[in-house]
Amino acid sequence: MDQEFHTSQNHFKKIIQQQLERIETLKNAPLPTDYNKLDKIKVGIIGGDGIGPTITNVSQNILKSLLEQHKTKQIDLIPIPGLTIENRALAKQAIPNEILYEIKKCDVTLKGPTHTPEKGDGWPNIESANVSMRKKLDLFANVRPVRIPQENIDWTFFRENTEDLYAVGSQGINVTDDLAIDFRVITTQGSKRIIQAGFNHARKTGKTKVTIVTKANIVKTTDGKFLEIAQEIAQDFPEITLDSWYIDIMTAKLLDLKRRSQFEVMILPNLYGDILTDEAAEIQGGVGTAGSANIGNKYAMFEAIHGSAPRMVTEKRAQYADPSSVLRASAMLLEHIGFPLIGTQLNQALDICGNYEKKISITGREDGATSEQFGDYVLSTINDKNLNDRWLEYLSLIHISEPTRRTPISYAVFCLK
Ligand code: IPM
Ligand code: MG
Repeated sequence: MDQEFHTSQNHFKKIIQQQLERIETLKNAPLPTDYNKLDKIKVGIIGGDGIGPTITNVSQNILKSLLEQHKTKQIDLIPIPGLTIENRALAKQAIPNEILYEIKKCDVTLKGPTHTPEKGDGWPNIESANVSMRKKLDLFANVRPVRIPQENIDWTFFRENTEDLYAVGSQGINVTDDLAIDFRVITTQGSKRIIQAGFNHARKTGKTKVTIVTKANIVKTTDGKFLEIAQEIAQDFPEITLDSWYIDIMTAKLLDLKRRSQFEVMILPNLYGDILTDEAAEIQGGVGTAGSANIGNKYAMFEAIHGSAPRMVTEKRAQYADPSSVLRASAMLLEHIGFPLIGTQLNQALDICGNYEKKISITGREDGATSEQFGDYVLSTINDKNLNDRWLEYLSLIHISEPTRRTPISYAVFCLK
């Protein structure tokens, strides 16, 4: 018994030391990058695993073409190959050093899905590349917009991205054969910055309600802290109503047709955010339809929220993968680095091609369009001079007089200041 106490205490001590040191770095975090002040913006394109290279390639071509057309500033699109499960397994690292080095040379990245090893799937038990990148680049705000104009739904989730059960998710402890313990980390600094970002976003986009989602009635210490900090920060935003829900009833209320359109900005700790955003994306039309922004002060990474779909590759269907999610992420990337109007155009074209006009559609199989054909369709739609009118016309057909409520674009940008 003494031996178990001793080992566990040392393990816990190490975790506490790491986290206290981390808090010191959070206190001295860099100011948010001002992309307007950079002479050149470096955008890394990370293909990832499975269908990742196919769908990021479509996005890269569209980004290239848009940036060429709007020659406002020099933007370098830099492919970063090799963040594959094979290379990660070989290096026994979530992100091999040489790839992390390339990533850190870029200001922002667009990332395809990467396979996350799980017990028994044959790959070594390395940490998820997503989780590792979020922690290593301190991408604390996971911003996930979900829109359903037909229902007047305009949700933006601010999921905390570096703490909670994810912070030391690979450092749990088997105290004995019978006792397994994981650790949940919530810090004052980590909570403040995500809650502040969500409130800033609400203010900038004219929203009047922020919903905090926790389980503070049960998980009293960590969720209690998160909720308390939200209540403090809300004092600085008198025009915004703070609303607090528990995660269980919140998952139910996203299905409540009378209630759900009332939610606007939702701020949550990491794991609740992971779960609720999959539900929200599914309501929008599937996890393949939503993009995700991972934003930090110095770096940002934009990605699809779905996985790498290895089955599509083994069944030779990768070329039929839907690039919509990573294209939505590309629109957020454009907004974030200072091109909100181009981002809006891309979002409008995606609405037209994927939701309204649907001249061709993706089925994931050969009876549907290829990713590349869909990409061409999106590009030709963006290039239509009447894009905005066409988009408004579709919205009026579904009786939306004020498109997507108050926000024409997702505003992943503008949340840090
Ligand atoms: C997401 C994903 C990741 C997460 C996985 C792939 C590690 O589900 O981005 O939501 O759990 O955060
Ligand atoms: Mg998820």
